[in-house]
Amino acid sequence: MNPVDITFTRTSSMKERILILGGTTEAYVLAEALAAHDDLRVTNSLAGRTTDPRLPAGETRIGGFGGPEGLIDYLHEQRIRAVFDVTHPFAASMGWNAYQACHAARVPLLRLERPAWTPEEGDRWDQVEGWDEAVNTLIQGGPQRVLLAVGRQELVPFAGLDDIWFLIRAVTPPDPMPEFPLAELLLSRGPFDLDNERKLLDEHRIDTIVCKNSGGLATSAKLIAARERGIRVIMRQRPRRPETPLATSVEGALNWLEMRKTQWRCEREPARAAG
Ligand SMILES: NC(=O)c1ccc[n+]([C@@H]2O[C@H](COP(=O)([O-])OP(=O)(O)OC[C@H]3O[C@@H](n4cnc5c(N)ncnc54)[C@H](OP(=O)(O)O)[C@@H]3O)[C@@H](O)[C@H]2O)c1
Repeated sequence: MNPVDITFTRTSSMKERILILGGTTEAYVLAEALAAHDDLRVTNSLAGRTTDPRLPAGETRIGGFGGPEGLIDYLHEQRIRAVFDVTHPFAASMGWNAYQACHAARVPLLRLERPAWTPEEGDRWDQVEGWDEAVNTLIQGGPQRVLLAVGRQELVPFAGLDDIWFLIRAVTPPDPMPEFPLAELLLSRGPFDLDNERKLLDEHRIDTIVCKNSGGLATSAKLIAARERGIRVIMRQRPRRPETPLATSVEGALNWLEMRKTQWRCEREPARAAG
């Protein structure tokens, strides 16, 4: 038989379906890497918080699933074979929903999460569990000029502090914007480089930074600039997440997927797998 006659062409329905819960840089990079796998059909899921978001490689769906139950239905309907939770380290609800839904639907789940920042010599960090603790810790230090880099949805707990001047940095305008007696809003999207972070802290005479431990390189320069200047940092720690298999790099996530693929091949061709 001519080899051409037995050429096997995968149709879209024969591809393994993958769901990426995204909204982070790592999710874009993972989607790009998976686009090269012609045995996969990848759907990216975005929460829909950003108007006109940058679309990742592959297909995209936008909006919540309706809690874990909605996600279970989606996994069944779409015949999803594996889920990557690549949501932001502070987007914990989605992580718990994914954990519950994948467990119930027996779909393998991998959490891909960039490592958290850790303090280095010279850092003056206070690590806090929540915003109430952050506010109390902030007041105790007697700050005057604070860079508030906590995200536009986390501003309310700080709005009542009427004797502190805040430089509020956000990607998009807070809506609604809480009333701060003394504040300036700076709309700006990372990545932020070290020289500009140094200038920002100096020009605004910042004495304290409040931020959350997002990890990654895009927003870490402020911590180096703070260390150089002995500026205090109030760092909100990450929320607790379910215990799932974890990769800290896209490469690790791809290795995990290769193991799943081997398992799927064994399921499809048990005789060959048995040798
Ligand atoms: N929180 C942050 O600091 C931060 C920073 C940068 C980017 N983001 C991204 O922004 C999105 C929303 O963040 P959040 O803090 O509001 O999350 P969250 O508290 O974990 O999620 C709240 C709800 O939003 C929906 N949702 C979240 N991520 C989704 C996704 N990827 N696809 C579909 N639905 C999703 C889910 O709704 P249902 O229950 O209806 O399914 C979830 O229950 C996340 O995708 C996250 O990766 C968050």
